[in-house]
Amino acid sequence: MLWSKLFIPTLRENPAEAEAASHTLLLRAGYIRQLSAGIYSHLFLSQRALNKIIAIVRQEMDAIGAQEMLLPALHPAEVWQESGRWDVMGQNMFRIKDRFDRDLCLGMTHEEVMTILARGELRSYKQLPQIWYQIQTKFRDEPRPKSGLLRVRQFIMKDSYSFDMDAAGLDAAYDKHYAAYKRIFERCGLNAIAVEAHSGAMGGSQSHEFMVPSDAGEDFVAICQKCGYHANLEKAVSVAAKPGVADPEGEFTPEKFHTPGRKTIVEVSEFTKLPQTSQMKSLVMVADGKPVLALLRGDHQLSETKFASVTGAADVRPAHPHEIREWFGADAGSLGPIGLKKSMLIVADTALQGRKNMIGGANEDDYHLKNLTPGKDFNAKFEDLRQVVAGDACSSCGAELAVVKTIEIGHIFKLGYKYSDTMGLRVLNADGAEVTPIMGSYGIGVERILSTAIEQNHDQDGMILPPSIAPFAVVVTPVNNANAEQMTAARSLYEDLLKQNIDVLLDDRDERPGVKFKDADLIGIPYRVTVGKKLAQGQVELTERRGKKSVDIAVSEVAAELAGRLRAQKV
Ligand SMILES: Nc1ncnc2c1ncn2[C@@H]1O[C@H](COP(=O)(O)OP(=O)(O)O)[C@@H](O)[C@H]1O
Ligand SMILES: [Mg+2]
Ligand SMILES: [Zn+2]
Repeated sequence: MLWSKLFIPTLRENPAEAEAASHTLLLRAGYIRQLSAGIYSHLFLSQRALNKIIAIVRQEMDAIGAQEMLLPALHPAEVWQESGRWDVMGQNMFRIKDRFDRDLCLGMTHEEVMTILARGELRSYKQLPQIWYQIQTKFRDEPRPKSGLLRVRQFIMKDSYSFDMDAAGLDAAYDKHYAAYKRIFERCGLNAIAVEAHSGAMGGSQSHEFMVPSDAGEDFVAICQKCGYHANLEKAVSVAAKPGVADPEGEFTPEKFHTPGRKTIVEVSEFTKLPQTSQMKSLVMVADGKPVLALLRGDHQLSETKFASVTGAADVRPAHPHEIREWFGADAGSLGPIGLKKSMLIVADTALQGRKNMIGGANEDDYHLKNLTPGKDFNAKFEDLRQVVAGDACSSCGAELAVVKTIEIGHIFKLGYKYSDTMGLRVLNADGAEVTPIMGSYGIGVERILSTAIEQNHDQDGMILPPSIAPFAVVVTPVNNANAEQMTAARSLYEDLLKQNIDVLLDDRDERPGVKFKDADLIGIPYRVTVGKKLAQGQVELTERRGKKSVDIAVSEVAAELAGRLRAQKV
């Protein structure tokens, strides 16, 4: 295509509103424009890149035998009421009414609609297994849309759903997706790690998230460099680092001491001149309406996800101050496990197992207890409740764990029978008996692949996109439009490359070379062929965007050289 005819509104300045690098660059390079918070228009370049990503996703899904469909984005409320998620999805769901005042919503995901489709169509084990997918717009009223395309309220997702007769079938469908996802991300130039994730309140036995390390991310992953263990922080386990000071030896009984105005772990630590590890932290939670006291080592944080799975509660929240006062007779800052006014479950993190003579709240404002020993002075259920922190030991190999910020680009789930069971999907097995198929669901965010690729690949001059997803693989740039020979050579080179099926752009704009080079760098075209003075010797310059290395090359050899390089990069 000819740049002079295209609408590519690049900006000279960094837009003030952008935080993440990908957001800044997508705006500056004229890829996207914002309509409203988390709602964007994709201009020509963005649409072209997204189409390339979609083509890769489609190829890899087709290769595992998945069948593409297109389901509605507009769903009647009953569909979601059947599964119980009409309420569960809360404010994240966009809800609307039709002219008859009936409730509808904009689809945030499609487990329900797919299950209803399958329920109406699948009759026999002979029709299974099936993998159905779509590439479609999702709507989610995210609480904090941010960072350009990374977290938006309307986005394209490839979502697939598998239906199998048994767990072994589901395992096979899951493994196929796992492998397809690895290939998709690799072809998009992304270095993704698959981490075990929590499968969520909606059931399911196994789940992996595909994560790309990036400071623009919002998910944390614990990683062991030595044995390769990695897991989402929601789920990661570790061996806690040793306490800063050993516990006092001896059999003592709890003893109250005055701690005027000292409420936080840090304040009590300064006051007692003992490290935070010598303290017991008391957190009052409400799990499905019932109070639960969660105890942790002073320097550890509660993982709400682990807490929810330990208590089996669907609804978990911190207690309100008035509830705390009523149940403990003291305010947060002086709470502990002894002398509760209401009986409740006490769960203690495993890092407190075997500890003795610790410090904790006395359930009296401005007082704490010393010599508090779990198991002797109070009973608790020991469970893994804490969030892993960097520096903990890997529970597989003992090496030190790191905690890394990541972006989630894909997610696969073994759903189990959750939807098929509650929504009544049944088929007949070989003996003619009715059975419930087992399901999986698998999602990839298309815009998120593009924005993550930019987060991982850019410099101060712009994007460095891999040729597989860049809007164009090559730009041919005549240095001086007024020079007829340069223009003619550039045009015929452009035609040559087109004939070789190379996705090429001719920068025929009447601009200074500096402007052309800057724009090409900004929009992230992987290769530039500059047609300038050396043309007199039959040569042009070939520059790779990544690293900006240039070589002089004979005009006659450019097409073969580029075709070779692009082939090597699997375009
Ligand atoms: N708000 C969003 N904006 C852009 N992409 C999203 C958004 N939410 C999810 N995605 C993409 O869709 C994929 C599947 O989503 P899912 O796991 O259902 O979402 P989440 O983990 O955010 O609840 C994610 O891995 C991500 O690539
Ligand atoms: Mg997810
Ligand atoms: Zn390890």
